[in-house]
Amino acid sequence: MRFELREEQAQIREMVRSLARKEFAPKAAEIDEQVRYPAENLSRLGELGLLGMLVPASYGGSETGAVAYAVALAEVAAGCASTAVGMAVTNMVGDGIHRFGTEEQKHRFLPLLASGAATGAFALTEPSAGSDAFGISTSAVRDGETYVLNGSKAFITNGTRAGVTIVMAVTDKKPKKRIGAFLVEPGMPGFSIGKAEHKMGLKGSDTVSLSFDDCRVPVRNRLGEEGEGFAIAMSALDGGRIGIAAQSVGIARAALEAATSYARERRQFGQPLAGFQAIQGMLADSATELDAAFLLALRAAYRKETGASYTREASVAKVFASEAAYRACHRSVQIFGGYGYIREYPVERHLRDIKVTSIYEGTSEIQRIVIARNLLR
Ligand code: CAA
Repeated sequence: MRFELREEQAQIREMVRSLARKEFAPKAAEIDEQVRYPAENLSRLGELGLLGMLVPASYGGSETGAVAYAVALAEVAAGCASTAVGMAVTNMVGDGIHRFGTEEQKHRFLPLLASGAATGAFALTEPSAGSDAFGISTSAVRDGETYVLNGSKAFITNGTRAGVTIVMAVTDKKPKKRIGAFLVEPGMPGFSIGKAEHKMGLKGSDTVSLSFDDCRVPVRNRLGEEGEGFAIAMSALDGGRIGIAAQSVGIARAALEAATSYARERRQFGQPLAGFQAIQGMLADSATELDAAFLLALRAAYRKETGASYTREASVAKVFASEAAYRACHRSVQIFGGYGYIREYPVERHLRDIKVTSIYEGTSEIQRIVIARNLLR
């Protein structure tokens, strides 16, 4: 068993770390303050092949695999968490189209996503169906060569700008409820974008509601077979959850690094904070938990990359990483004391940004259900 990254994976890590430190981190506070979508960061990721990491080269992707993707996403998140979520969802959508799409769909959408010419969005959640994803009510009724979609979606990342959105909708209610997945493009009649949410964190990321009012989607835009939409959504989320685990580690690593340097500089009672065992314990706990979290994310990514099952491992990584990262961000604010509570320092942003990682792409409670079902079946 080897713990080192392969040479090309390590090179990607160095390249993305330098990009995130030089170009993303210096602007992250301003992006948060101005609630500004970091379009230029997403373009850079596209230029460097970081938006199609799970997509084969024949469709314009960089085909670096799930491990390199997790490594890169953590680095981007350490620089700018809002940029990382845009990157995560675009890669997830590309992966979903690659795994479940027709040749024609792959040629039509993947080069756009991989190059950054378009971002991707994933629309499962509805105002009344979040954790209970099967409870969605947006409908898709077949009418000749189109499906007519009606309903609305909530909290959709990249929703405003997406070149393609995977939309889950109910195709049949009887004798059994069945869900389909549809590739909805901007400008399709009846498709509209609603209000942007005012969020606690990830303020640069675009989160909106979507409406479908007799929206006609051609049959050629159905992803997979008619009743396959729910399984496609769950499978896409398995991969997405590895990304959220990696994103969590990246955000919390930035918070830990900030707290570590602050502890060296800040003096109280005649010595640097770093000299106090209470502070050392906090730093050590964060470092330990983040190491464990990243190893879990890499294990799930490795299983995905090598074709093994990874539903359970993805949920284990997501629940552990998002919760450990929250604790690490919380400790970092605590180490900064009063300065941790003001905007002048980055740790209050990290704490606001991290909270959603234990909510989106399946709450911690849902991850525990997935893990327990896996154990008990
Ligand atoms: N892969 C493939 N298929 C799967 C699967 C998986 N991981 N998990 C379940 N399925 C299939 C099952 O095999 C089953 O198929 P059959 O009907 O053919 O037997 C079907 O899906 C239904 O499965 P369940 O009975 O397990 O479904 P359930 O209603 O009990 O729900 C759940 C399971 C785990 C709770 C699920 O609803 C869930 O994950 N909920 C959370 C939803 C979620 O993560 N939302 C996030 C929104 S997206 C987002 O946040 C993105 C963003 O913008 C950042």
